[in-house]
Amino acid sequence: MKNNMTIIALMIITLLSACGVNDGQSGTVSVESGNLILTASHGGNGAAWRLPDCAACHAMTAIHEKVENIRRIVRKKGYTTCSGCHGRNGSNESEPRRCVICHNNNDLPHTPWLQGKHAHTFTAGETTLLNDDQCVDCHVASDMNGLFELNRDLTGYTDNTQTVSGYNSISEFCLRCHNRDHQQTGFEIIGGDFNDPLIAVEDAFYFIDQHGIADGTGLRIYAGLRPGYEYRTVVACTDCHAMHGTDNTRLIIDNSLKGVTRLDKAIRETAHRVTIKNGDYSQLCVLCHQMKVILDDGDLETGNGLSGVHEVGSDCRTCHTHGEAVQAGL
Ligand code: HEC
Ligand code: HEC
Ligand code: HEC
Ligand code: HEC
Ligand code: HEC
Ligand code: HEC
Ligand code: HEC
Ligand code: HEC
Repeated sequence: MKNNMTIIALMIITLLSACGVNDGQSGTVSVESGNLILTASHGGNGAAWRLPDCAACHAMTAIHEKVENIRRIVRKKGYTTCSGCHGRNGSNESEPRRCVICHNNNDLPHTPWLQGKHAHTFTAGETTLLNDDQCVDCHVASDMNGLFELNRDLTGYTDNTQTVSGYNSISEFCLRCHNRDHQQTGFEIIGGDFNDPLIAVEDAFYFIDQHGIADGTGLRIYAGLRPGYEYRTVVACTDCHAMHGTDNTRLIIDNSLKGVTRLDKAIRETAHRVTIKNGDYSQLCVLCHQMKVILDDGDLETGNGLSGVHEVGSDCRTCHTHGEAVQAGL
């Protein structure tokens, strides 16, 4: 009975706000603010907080008038989607917030690129598709505005001082978990040995790897980069690793469209394949590297239409791995 009264009272408030009368509590959820997650003030002073039945007060035809891209897909998928974008409204804690109901190979196949048998499922080597909870682990409060923004669209994890400081790059996000001594509760990584990149890659990124903070010289004998990349460019983890789907192990991208974000558009959008066999990473490296002076069979086609790296067909890992300081490293 008390509940019914609340609902009636709230419906009146809804009607009033529809007529432009505002109780001063609304407006926290909007594209402009970038926040979609409901708070305890939902419904004016919190009268709608913890109420699970969105349909009781929000008719599908009356919502999302200003967000055309979202309006259509929400109508198609229905009320089970609400918590995906607006949070759980303080209830239904055991229900997953739905993401893959929209982000799947039929509805939004390229936002993000989902094809492939490996994805970042938080268990190395696993071959299952991502589930809703895993999406939320990395994107707790996305605003779904069609623009990827580091500090809005990625979950804020603590840094080495246990502070949730903002990210300056995607790589910083990865390193909040992939490190030896300041990992996240619930996402502990042990690693095979001391030098396993799963835990050693933070050190490698800051102090050793030339794709990280340590600069390459650009003076080596096989030097040369394709347009979009220059020496002293810090290369993002996700330029080489795909989070959402790839056929390669270690989450190496299987197509230029899934990474190499700075690469000249014409080359990137030719959709060069990346297939890795027995440690031969040449189809990955050749996306960005093209030696200027051809030496040592550097004109051998790698198999994806591009050439310009040495040792094609051999196991690159004897000389190029994360954290490798001698030889040429990574
Ligand atoms: C894909 C993300 C997404 C989903 C799913 C979604 N919403 Fe929204 N919703 C938004 C965005 C974005 C806004 C902000 C619109 C604006 O700024 O005008 C919004 C705003 C609203 C608003 C306030 C203003 C308005 O536009 O009407 C209500 C009420 C609302 N949503 C209810 C719902 C309900 C109920 C569901 C489930 C049927 C739902 N939303 C599902 C993204 C979503
Ligand atoms: C009992 C009625 C009621 C229920 C149930 C209800 N809401 Fe609301 N909701 C309201 C009212 C009333 C407002 C508008 C308050 C205002 O405009 O100030 C509102 C506002 C919103 C807004 C905009 C909030 C803002 O800060 O701008 C969103 C988004 C929203 N509701 C989503 C949902 C979702 C998702 C559910 C289901 C989990 C839900 N509502 C359940 C009554 C309800
Ligand atoms: C391990 C963390 C992680 C997981 C798990 C994850 N993502 Fe992402 N997501 C990222 C990062 C990092 C980016 C930005 C770089 C990129 O696009 O690869 C991103 C980008 C995106 C984008 C923007 C793509 C674009 O082209 O603009 C969407 C959409 C997205 N993710 C949705 C999802 C969905 C849906 C799931 C679950 C099926 C999911 N993500 C799981 C980390 C993750
Ligand atoms: C009702 C369908 C729907 C649901 C449910 C949904 N999304 Fe989205 N999402 C979209 C659409 C549509 C876009 C792209 C908007 C555009 O391109 O205009 C998007 C964009 C994104 C982006 C890209 C960044 C941005 O701001 O556009 C991320 C990340 C994302 N969604 C993650 C998620 C996660 C995580 C969930 C579950 C918690 C989720 N989405 C639930 C429809 C949905
Ligand atoms: C919230 C913590 C967290 C974040 C953020 C995170 N990872 Fe992971 N990552 C893990 C865990 C946990 C594993 C599994 C470790 C294991 O199985 O021992 C993993 C595994 C991996 C693997 C191995 C996958 C395989 O199948 O071999 C790669 C590669 C990887 N992460 C790269 C990244 C990149 C790149 C980013 C940033 C875009 C990132 N991770 C962000 C926690 C995280
Ligand atoms: C996304 C583009 C990209 C991919 C893919 C890529 N690289 Fe690089 N690489 C660069 C950039 C940019 C630099 C320069 C970085 C700097 O100076 O800080 C670089 C630098 C290097 C250097 C140091 C060069 C010097 O002059 O000191 C080596 C060695 C190297 N890469 C090897 C590889 C190998 C091996 C692969 C494949 C496993 C690879 N790269 C894949 C972009 C890429
Ligand atoms: C026997 C060790 C060895 C193997 C195996 C090897 N490399 Fe190299 N690579 C090197 C050395 C050493 C250099 C740097 C030469 C110099 O200092 O001028 C280098 C340089 C490079 C560079 C040049 C980066 C730049 O911009 O200067 C690329 C790209 C590269 N290797 C790719 C590959 C690929 C792809 C494979 C596997 C198919 C591979 N390498 C296998 C030792 C090796
Ligand atoms: C230039 C491309 C490139 C970049 C940039 C890059 N990686 Fe890698 N990563 C590789 C290659 C190639 C391997 C496989 C060889 C090896 O193990 O070193 C690998 C292996 C890994 C592994 C081991 C996966 C496993 O299951 O054994 C992890 C974890 C990883 N990278 C994380 C990261 C993180 C985090 C970043 C950003 C800080 C990053 N990588 C940046 C190319 C790259």
